[in-house]
Amino acid sequence: MSHSFPSSRRRFMQLTGLGMAGAASFPSWLDAMEMKSSKGRGAVKADPSFKADVELDLVARSSQAQILPGKPTGVFSYSAKVMTGPKDSVIEIPGSYLGPLLQFRTGQKVRIQFKNELPEESIVHWHGLHVPAEQDGHPSDSILPGEVRVYEFEIKNRAGLHIYHPHSHERTATQVYYGLAGGILIRDAEEEKLGLPAGEFELPLVIQDRRFDENNQLVYGRTLHDRTLGFAGNRVLVNGKSDPVFDVSTRAYRLRVMNGSNSRIYKLAWSDGTAISVLGVDGGLLESPEIRPYVMLAPGERLDLWMDFTGRGLGSELVLKSLAFKGALPKMHEAMMAKMSGMAHGVGEGGGMMGGMMGHHELPIGSEYAIARFRITRVISENTRMPTQLSRYRTYRLSDTANPDHPIPIGVSEGPGSMLLNGRPYAFDDIQPFERVPLNTLQLVEISHAHGGHEASQGKASQTDAKEGHEMEAGSSSGMNQGASADPGMKGMQHGGGMMSGMMGNMSGMKHEASDGKAQPLSGMDHGGGMGMMGGMGMMMSMAHPIHLHGQQFQVLSRSLSGDDAGDYETVKEGLITSGFKDTVLLMPGEKIRLIKPFEDFRGRFMYHCHNLEHEDLGMMREFEIL
Ligand code: C2O
Ligand code: CU
Ligand code: CU
Repeated sequence: MSHSFPSSRRRFMQLTGLGMAGAASFPSWLDAMEMKSSKGRGAVKADPSFKADVELDLVARSSQAQILPGKPTGVFSYSAKVMTGPKDSVIEIPGSYLGPLLQFRTGQKVRIQFKNELPEESIVHWHGLHVPAEQDGHPSDSILPGEVRVYEFEIKNRAGLHIYHPHSHERTATQVYYGLAGGILIRDAEEEKLGLPAGEFELPLVIQDRRFDENNQLVYGRTLHDRTLGFAGNRVLVNGKSDPVFDVSTRAYRLRVMNGSNSRIYKLAWSDGTAISVLGVDGGLLESPEIRPYVMLAPGERLDLWMDFTGRGLGSELVLKSLAFKGALPKMHEAMMAKMSGMAHGVGEGGGMMGGMMGHHELPIGSEYAIARFRITRVISENTRMPTQLSRYRTYRLSDTANPDHPIPIGVSEGPGSMLLNGRPYAFDDIQPFERVPLNTLQLVEISHAHGGHEASQGKASQTDAKEGHEMEAGSSSGMNQGASADPGMKGMQHGGGMMSGMMGNMSGMKHEASDGKAQPLSGMDHGGGMGMMGGMGMMMSMAHPIHLHGQQFQVLSRSLSGDDAGDYETVKEGLITSGFKDTVLLMPGEKIRLIKPFEDFRGRFMYHCHNLEHEDLGMMREFEIL
């Protein structure tokens, strides 16, 4: 008998009004249906015929971590243990809330027994790994507190750095924010032959931003503002530590960088102007290193960097920074942030909206700040040189694709509280014709801003029956104006504030909160006039989105810009790496990205979504079905 209680059943119960009260008297026909629908969703128990090379126990639970001086912080945390196989399959990051690094080799067969000891449902997704659909951590495979799910898959990826994190629908952002994430290092022979810096000279750097209250507890906001723009902290942590300092020797290092933030985009650069040497991206090594003045890193993306500290004096320091750039957030918001910058803090508790905005204000996305310090503590003479040739792989060409003239569209449409792909919010079992992809094909995919144009109407916004009242989202004009008038020094804000709250007010009127907490566009919005209005809103709301496609990594074919965003684009463009294999790509305002993605080996459903996790939870997520 199955011990799982997938959320599809719960969702069904919510829809049918059975609720939790109905659980005890669960009709048997529903059980039978459940058995049927969960068939092929992967083993919840181990399959004895799967001969694992590595077996791990992975647990998610509430715990405490020492992040700031003083009181420990309550977190959610993964811990892992090697049951059989190489001991270095699990590498602890001492004292961190981050999950340990998992380390596998290409070709290894892995069994991971995941136990959910959280007070809520969860499921683990292996971001970047090419695994069967039922092993991918689909939201509908979520397990309840106390339940166990066994994953069994073979490592098909080449060497690279990937991520494990939760993927329960509408809970991903919160669970990641509270600490559930870790790195997965895949090793292979091609990489090992290069003799890249290893051991203590290979440093993982997981970059995240967080916000704490005066008791050192995490603060997470879910106001309309936070959800529309993405939640940003006011403090950057690396590997779960605040004010990180790395003691290094005078030699070359390999930095394995991952953006584990919910929404924050970084523009990485060295404080002394040393160029950034990029060895690899999401899907592993490039053919040869690329040297850039700076490099962009959006949520879900990874970078493999080379940094040589040779010639630096004992005790000297180098800072890894994020430089100023534009385009991450809607223009209107960026303008307001500029207006507010320089103003004293002084907004008390309470203003939910205001709090969120001040979060952006205290460490604005796109401003300049330090991420980590590297301190030279040892002078040594041995060193290695950066290889000029790193890897060889097949470059996909447009003529290799099954659909060179009909790209699969991923149209991003942006509106307050409503971030959609192809005009539709995420829904289970809502695969559109263009989302059905034949197995073992290479497909051309085109990501663009739809702005309510024809791309958006291609998949019309779903019309949900507005049976519940139109519950408005909190955090609109009132909190804002109170905040503004409470402090005479904030005078200059009133203009911007009015603008912003006006916008927010507009949008609350344009949507309603469905009973399941999902923001749904009001029906009628997708008809003529409504669309035009949405289109205008889309332009105003245009922001950057890291778009992530599950399954195999893709190659970027082209990036192009249209509209009047060229000025902002100038501030990021040299930091966008288009070579190599990617699974997450940062779509800037006004941009169109064409990519070629293989859909090989496994049939079934694979998600694609914005990796701004608040956007993902808002429903900026869809799925492909590989047939
Ligand atoms: Cu890293 Cu579907 O996510
Ligand atoms: Cu993923
Ligand atoms: Cu997004």
